Amino acid sequence: MSVMTALRHAEVRPESEFVADVWSGLSGRPKSLPSKYLYDARGSELFEQICDTPEYYLTRAELALMRSSVAQMAQALGPELRLVEFGNGSGLKTRLLLGALERPVAYVPVEISASALAGSCAELQREYPDLQILPLQADFTAPLTLPRAHRQPRRTVLYLAGSTLGNFPDAEAALLLQQMRKAAGPGGAVLLGLDLKKDPALINAAYNDAAGVTAAFTLNLLARINRELHADFQIEQFLHRARYQPILGRIETDIVSRRAQRVVVAGRGFDFAADEPMRVEVSCKYDRADMQRLAKAAGLQMQQLWSDQQQQFAVVLLTATQS
Ligand code: AVI
Repeated sequence: MSVMTALRHAEVRPESEFVADVWSGLSGRPKSLPSKYLYDARGSELFEQICDTPEYYLTRAELALMRSSVAQMAQALGPELRLVEFGNGSGLKTRLLLGALERPVAYVPVEISASALAGSCAELQREYPDLQILPLQADFTAPLTLPRAHRQPRRTVLYLAGSTLGNFPDAEAALLLQQMRKAAGPGGAVLLGLDLKKDPALINAAYNDAAGVTAAFTLNLLARINRELHADFQIEQFLHRARYQPILGRIETDIVSRRAQRVVVAGRGFDFAADEPMRVEVSCKYDRADMQRLAKAAGLQMQQLWSDQQQQFAVVLLTATQS
């Protein structure tokens, strides 16, 4: 190893979680990379652009559903809530929900990125000056201790929008839901936005937009690894492949090696065969039976389901069967 190469490698702490995760994913059979690393600044920007592509119906369908049914949702949730949202809460969906709730006690956005959290809180506080906003900078997949509000809420509701749960394979989704149930506590509830099973052609198109924004989003992960872990992925030698698997009811997104090649990541070499895939994301789609099964696995039951007119997207209210 040359001195320059050794110096560059020294910049990546071998114990860093990112290196460990990438090494472990690339050592697996089949190879994989954790989806959480898709969202660096560029990845988040590209995700915003995906939401505006004509093919990605999810965002528009969820928003239409919130617009048509938020009053009913607020009524089902009840007054004086502590609303806890997993993920960035600056969106229109959150505003619609907060605007419809009766005398909410507190809003707790849980977000790993400090800058995203600060931005969304300042905006919301301007809009809802009387609402206590208690941001929590944390990874919501880990167990959480929620901040207490000045006023005692009647109920805690955990909200996960955008079909984010779909990015967790079944067993992990059940674990996350279990954690949400525990964090909501006795009498609490979970509110989920979920993408519905539908014509596979529509689903496939949503993850293979004609302008190639989704492909850029997926492949940006390689650019991030190159930059942050001093890797040498030749990005044009890989391609984005997203396919709906009707039996599993999910989109499986892979990065596929166009040819046999070797890539070095933080000093370790990994060999790719021609056409070898590397799993980067799953996006699960649900029907009522799937939701009931998942809820049951987490000690929850489905109390109510709202869906948009075209039956593309659903919001479900789950309550605990056990505390
Ligand atoms: C954030 N998540 C719900 C998106 C999805 O639909 O699975 C991420 C995404 N990946 C490709 N397009 C959108």
